[in-house]
Amino acid sequence: MKNERTLTIIKPDAVRARKAGLIMAQLEACGFEIVAMKKLTLTEAQASAFYAVHQERPFYGSLVAFMTSGPVIPMVLERDDAIASLRRAMGATNPAEAADGTIRKLYGTDIEKNAIHGSDAPATAAVERAFFFSALEQG
Ligand code: RTP
Ligand code: MG
Repeated sequence: MKNERTLTIIKPDAVRARKAGLIMAQLEACGFEIVAMKKLTLTEAQASAFYAVHQERPFYGSLVAFMTSGPVIPMVLERDDAIASLRRAMGATNPAEAADGTIRKLYGTDIEKNAIHGSDAPATAAVERAFFFSALEQG
């Protein structure tokens, strides 16, 4: 399959636990190239906008509070079949249900503090890449 790009975020729990380097190494070992990367702390408005698709869900307020609780590391990743491959490498949303060896199984704490975000489809990947990175930054 042709090269594809997706957006990942190392979430505040994993950055705080100093697992960012291990997660990046695991992503590289999975065949991803890190095309662009930055570290920042999201404002409430930014986190609310990023996860707006979940605004009617009961966990939305808690999710926004979590995602603004410390620095995050968004990255543009590239490989063949990147979107589906990243979702496999991450594991299930709830770390307790994630397969052995996945990033969420290894580094997630609970269904909210689950270490990593990954885009779920080509359309959302394009929007989410542009949310964090300019065209210039994505090469
Ligand atoms: P993500 O968007 O972060 O890659 O995660 P996902 O697709 O696996 O899961 P999604 O349903 O899109 O949920 C987004 C994030 O919201 C938090 N969450 N909390 N308390 C809860 O029941 C709950 N459910 C989801 C998680 O941080 C999840 O990754
Ligand atoms: Mg999602």
